[in-house]
Amino acid sequence: MESNYYMLLSITLLVTISPAASYTLPDNYFINCGSASSLLTYQRNFTGDDNSGNFSLSPRDSDTTSAAADNTLPAPSLYQTARIFRKSSFYELALDQAGTYVVRLHFFPFPSLGSPRFHVSASKSTLLSNFTAESDAFPLVEEFLIKLAAGKLRIEFNPDEKERSVAFVNAIEVFLAPDELVQGYALPRVTSLGSEGNFSGVMDFPLRVVHRINVGGGNVTRERDTLMRYWIPDDAYMLIKDTARNGNYSFDIKYGDGATAFIAPDSVYRTAKEMNILGGGALSKFNMSWQFPVGKGVLHLVRFHFCDIVSNVTSELFRFNLYVYGAYVVEVYPWSSVPRLAAPFFKDYVVESDDSGFMNVSVGANSQSSTETAFLNGVEILEMIGGKKADKSRKRLLIVVGSSLGGMVLVVVVFALVCFGLRKRKLKMKAEEAFDWPLGRLYGGSSYSRTTVRTSVTGSPFADLNLGLKIPLSGILFATKHFDPKLMIGEGGFGKVYKGTLRNGAKVAIKRSEAGHGQGLEEFHTEIRLLATIRHQHLVSLIGYCDERNEMILVYEFMEKGTLREHLYNGEGVDITSTDRLSWDERLRICSDAAKGLHYLHTGSSGTIIHRDIKSTNILLDENYVAKVADFGLSRSGQLDQTHVSTEVKGSFGYLDPEYFRCLQLTQKSDVYSFGVVLLEVLCARPAVDRELPREEVNLADWGMVWQRRGELERVVDASLVGKINPNSLRKFGETVEKCLQECGADRPNMVDVLWDLEYCRRLQELGVARQPYEDSTTEVSWVLPMGMLQRLPTQSFTGDGDESICGSFSGAVSSQFNANEVFSQLNMNGAR
Ligand SMILES: *[C@@H]1O[C@H](CO)[C@@H](O)[C@H](O)[C@H]1NC(C)=O
Ligand SMILES: *[C@@H]1O[C@H](CO)[C@@H](O)[C@H](O)[C@H]1NC(C)=O
Ligand SMILES: *[C@@H]1O[C@H](CO)[C@@H](O)[C@H](O)[C@H]1NC(C)=O
Ligand SMILES: *[C@@H]1O[C@H](CO)[C@@H](O)[C@H](O)[C@H]1NC(C)=O
Ligand SMILES: *[C@@H]1O[C@H](CO)[C@@H](O)[C@H](O)[C@H]1NC(C)=O
Ligand SMILES: *[C@@H]1O[C@H](CO)[C@@H](O)[C@H](O)[C@H]1NC(C)=O
Ligand SMILES: *[C@@H]1O[C@H](CO)[C@@H](O)[C@H](O)[C@H]1NC(C)=O
Ligand SMILES: *[C@@H]1O[C@H](CO)[C@@H](O)[C@H](O)[C@H]1NC(C)=O
Ligand SMILES: *[C@@H]1O[C@H](CO)[C@@H](O)[C@H](O)[C@H]1NC(C)=O
Repeated sequence: MESNYYMLLSITLLVTISPAASYTLPDNYFINCGSASSLLTYQRNFTGDDNSGNFSLSPRDSDTTSAAADNTLPAPSLYQTARIFRKSSFYELALDQAGTYVVRLHFFPFPSLGSPRFHVSASKSTLLSNFTAESDAFPLVEEFLIKLAAGKLRIEFNPDEKERSVAFVNAIEVFLAPDELVQGYALPRVTSLGSEGNFSGVMDFPLRVVHRINVGGGNVTRERDTLMRYWIPDDAYMLIKDTARNGNYSFDIKYGDGATAFIAPDSVYRTAKEMNILGGGALSKFNMSWQFPVGKGVLHLVRFHFCDIVSNVTSELFRFNLYVYGAYVVEVYPWSSVPRLAAPFFKDYVVESDDSGFMNVSVGANSQSSTETAFLNGVEILEMIGGKKADKSRKRLLIVVGSSLGGMVLVVVVFALVCFGLRKRKLKMKAEEAFDWPLGRLYGGSSYSRTTVRTSVTGSPFADLNLGLKIPLSGILFATKHFDPKLMIGEGGFGKVYKGTLRNGAKVAIKRSEAGHGQGLEEFHTEIRLLATIRHQHLVSLIGYCDERNEMILVYEFMEKGTLREHLYNGEGVDITSTDRLSWDERLRICSDAAKGLHYLHTGSSGTIIHRDIKSTNILLDENYVAKVADFGLSRSGQLDQTHVSTEVKGSFGYLDPEYFRCLQLTQKSDVYSFGVVLLEVLCARPAVDRELPREEVNLADWGMVWQRRGELERVVDASLVGKINPNSLRKFGETVEKCLQECGADRPNMVDVLWDLEYCRRLQELGVARQPYEDSTTEVSWVLPMGMLQRLPTQSFTGDGDESICGSFSGAVSSQFNANEVFSQLNMNGAR
């Protein structure tokens, strides 16, 4: 749940050593209902439900009997048995992954059943109500696309009570859909009167396949489809058949940027209906029109499939019109979609059907086009279950308002309780335990909640977002192999993160924001403008972005060695071998690098940027173990004169500044606190919060401070470091941590002071001498101070305190061979104030 995506990275890398094969059709669940035996058919093993494996049927009694076909129809073997339900019953399946699933129900009623009427629901959505399957020569397959959470899925069958009917089913398929099938964009919304804005969140509705049409071709059977779908010809729906002729192409379809074979198989893209222009005569200029029966006044996801198999040459000037209900016109422009022949692409719309019970679609010539023709390869119409027009959308709005009100109440309650818990410091641990859940839920443990950067903050006079960072969507699709789930290295509240390789060979991390995730395009652009101005060797750089098709994608440099955490201790699938373990000196250097990055964020040219989510999974290592801070800038930035920015609680548990929690007052010092926790994590090699441990050890910050105050910090250091840390280095480190973790933000040092202390720890470690530098002021330690810091230190760290003497003595240190220890003891005094 946490966006420790780089943690997953190392595993992902191991798994995908072979060239990332994309999605493969899963084996679960294929159920042969009413049968004791499994059946190998349609390239899948349909498990009998009599001796169910990892799914269950209940109740399992005389009310849910199996039945064998009682007729002599030559039905495929899958339809020779059925499960009959005399009362409400369900199948329960375990889904080990959240996602959008294909749910397919097969019905082939035996004559003895008559025409039963029943209802089917799944995951609290009614999929089929008042459903009757008439006895026919062909089985009826109902298909749905449903977004489901991981866990138990119940598919419930309810016989209609009034008619004393039974319910039945012959076979069930439930499997995870490939990513590209999942519509995540905001789509144009169309009614019979024309365009009506955009619609996002289509996948929040269960979708029921109403029509799946292979235009210009024949039946595409399950065996020939990549996802075992069934496509039927369009002829029965065509209005004036003479307006069209069939196009037929026998070469390879060039899948790529526009569509993949999972969107539709080549049997669909190899055939098309083309305007009958060669026939000449009156009909040659007519639109080609289809009329599909649909529910009245219901929302549909309509997907049009195109693949230019009719042109001789690609032409930038070739385009044609697509009409929905004759009122909505959109230009289909193959060149801009995929500038190649025989390369498929598709277009999605949310169409609200009118009260005629039909949906009209047409394609026709565009007079501006180089060739006045038009074509269509396929159409899919999916009903959005529960998606009704106007009045329903008001209801939805109410629900949204209602639930967000509920959410606010929850936040307030949680906040009040947490404050109470913190007041009673002794109760702190209890409070945290009690409130970890709602926090986890509200903020998803995500690495950043998509808060917005106020436009005024950047103040950049960019008229246009012309930063040379824009990457076309086709480039992103290329890099991620169409968002191949195998390349996914993380997921959080914001969306998904993929590893990818751009066309120029650069390895990148690609963050794809989930559609409808709160943020508008304008805010997204504001963020990019800000991120583009932040460049520092210890900050993970933004390489580009993509905002085509309502996508909000950020592209970052890829950090080969993953997160700091995965080099510290085992967890969530990460195993550290002894060779991975970092030495104390390496750890100090990494901390120091990260501190430099943070310091830049706090004081850099872009104004004060507060990271808000410093943790060991947001410190990444490149191939040379150079540390860089990630996930910044998506946080709120404050103007320099503003010392704090009030904002909602955000951050990760165990790292949260208690003051921030109490007052919702966010300052750079909140980052300092979190960084202090990271320092402890680095020293002790354990998570910031570990619930497995005894109560007093759960919270690392508290536990570490207990030992620090006792002066026995060495007793809790990482076992692999025992005896390897110079005691002075450790003592200095402990003091640094203690300062960072001060209850009151004003008592904590600035990042530059922390950086300075860390550099000093390194120096002490390098010296490896068991001296007492504080007492021994005559120690001859002359070493080169890091140059960048020298210029900054006096102005940024000290002048605010108005302590001239310290500034003076510090300047002295620069010019003369001043005793470094003395400098540091003064610095410490300063920091401890
Ligand atoms: C099909 O699945 C069942 C139960 O999972 C198993 O017993 C059977 O061996 C499988 N058959 C084949 C051909 O794989
Ligand atoms: C179902 O069982 C099979 C073998 O019995 C196993 O491979 C598969 O992972 C199980 N699926 C789930 C979702 O538990
Ligand atoms: C089912 O249809 C009957 C009449 O055809 C209607 O009275 C009833 O309300 C419907 N039930 C549901 C759940 O739609
Ligand atoms: C719909 O989305 C498109 C981008 O896909 C955008 O250009 C357009 O302004 C949006 N329309 C509305 C009404 O939001
Ligand atoms: C495509 O054309 C070939 C010959 O031109 C023909 O044999 C085949 O049946 C056609 N396919 C379709 C789907 O029309
Ligand atoms: C498609 O299949 C249906 C029934 O399965 C059949 O009636 C029809 O003739 C087929 N059409 C073509 C073009 O093969
Ligand atoms: C395609 O090329 C063939 C011959 O090369 C020609 O006869 C035909 O008219 C061309 N079709 C179009 C649509 O230009
Ligand atoms: C759809 O097409 C039918 C048949 O041509 C026509 O009668 C009907 O008016 C059309 N509906 C709309 C909304 O254009
Ligand atoms: C095609 O349909 C559109 C919308 O109904 C109409 O405006 C246009 O005139 C039609 N074109 C032809 C050539 O009939």
